[in-house]
Amino acid sequence: MNNQTAANGKRQSLQGQWSTRMAFILAVTGSAVGLGNIWKFPYIAGENGGGAFVLIYLLCVFAVGLPIMMSEILIGRRGRRNPVTTMGIVGEEEGGSRNWALVGIMGIIAGVLILSFYSVIAGWAMSYVFSTASGTFVDADAAQVKLIFDELSGSWKISAFWHTVFVVITVAVVAQGVQRGLERLVKILMPALLVLLLVLLAFSMNSGYFGQAVEFMFSPNFSALTPNGVLIALGHAFFTLSLGMGAVMAYGAYLPEGTSITSTSILVVLADTGIALLAGLIIFPVVFSYGLESDAGPGLIFQTLPLAFGHMPGGVFFGTLFFILLSFAAWTSSIGMIEPAVAWMTESKGIKRGVAASILGGFTWVIGFGTVFSWNLWQDKTFFKGTFFDNLDYLISNIALPLGGLMITIFAGWVMCRNSTSDELSCGTGLMYKSWRFLARYVAPAAVILVLIEASSGGIVSDYLAKIGD
Ligand code: TRP
Repeated sequence: MNNQTAANGKRQSLQGQWSTRMAFILAVTGSAVGLGNIWKFPYIAGENGGGAFVLIYLLCVFAVGLPIMMSEILIGRRGRRNPVTTMGIVGEEEGGSRNWALVGIMGIIAGVLILSFYSVIAGWAMSYVFSTASGTFVDADAAQVKLIFDELSGSWKISAFWHTVFVVITVAVVAQGVQRGLERLVKILMPALLVLLLVLLAFSMNSGYFGQAVEFMFSPNFSALTPNGVLIALGHAFFTLSLGMGAVMAYGAYLPEGTSITSTSILVVLADTGIALLAGLIIFPVVFSYGLESDAGPGLIFQTLPLAFGHMPGGVFFGTLFFILLSFAAWTSSIGMIEPAVAWMTESKGIKRGVAASILGGFTWVIGFGTVFSWNLWQDKTFFKGTFFDNLDYLISNIALPLGGLMITIFAGWVMCRNSTSDELSCGTGLMYKSWRFLARYVAPAAVILVLIEASSGGIVSDYLAKIGD
């Protein structure tokens, strides 16, 4: 027996394992919960009209996201290697082709590109720690708060500074490796973030506009939803759960045998969704009570939350703590974005972990300037979906991740043998297994394909559905 194979003949990870099931849950939750939940979900829900968008998003999370998360974890544990190698060897073992490795390569590229813009926004969150702590927002009105945001995003130098800091701290943790780096961090931070969100919720519930926010988020008005909005909801289901690029697959490779993939995935999906909804319920009452625009875009939380902090008792303290925790939530996510690439470079190319993380960090850092410039130097250079940032986010979140997820679910549902998947999911052939397989083989692929057709055709699918409905 060598160090790559366990006594039962199964492969073992080359990067160590999670010490407990809880550590794995926290790591995947840490990767899932981040800017996607607190920064992105509220602003895209606002831009796409609220209720109907939220409903479609929830559908996508449970009918598409959950089965794909299970698929990623089971493929990862089966292969026990980085996503590129794993897709190749499992593909071959299951009677498919080695070329499935391409899905892993696509994921690695997507991960580096996501980090490139993610770290700019995370940088803003870090800079807000300092502006909140120094009392800048105390008693500020909406116009002043907006001005402070515009000053930050409008200065490429300040944005670039914080972007650099964030890339560096991400590389630093990834360089340390799975257990030492990732585990320690998430164990403390995730629970703390939840507590703080509940404090903020209490503030919003007392704002007098809570009912209006609930109405906005949960009463669906389908005329406010465009075909492209449906694609954005689907793309966000992938983005927020860290799916479609092999991140969860890479984490699954470090999962001990015998840990239940099904219950772990359900827990992560519930936690992630709960936090996103919580963020919406915190932000929209503030939006309505100050007469702000719900479709303010990427600046939304940076223009709403400081108002809440500026007017609540203990606001400087809670506000500072909030932006600290938001930065940490971003940090526990960002490490997952380059972990697949780092694992691939160390395992297949023999590059040391620290070196691999630094090279990737370098790429990300340079590409990130495109996003930094999107609010200043290149502000007016718009094409297709808008600025450089708008296009990058659109192409990655709404096109690349759903396509990656589509390949992954086809792989788990159609290429892998029944025996292998039921063995990994260890739920026999009961209802649980049947449901997963049904979702993974039919529902998830069909949903992704239909939504892509719907958005690229400007609404062919919904027109057709409306016609047969008449
Ligand atoms: N899920 C993260 C968030 O909501 C963002 C993300 C997308 C991510 N893809 C990822 C995180 C891959 C880690 C790995 O903020």
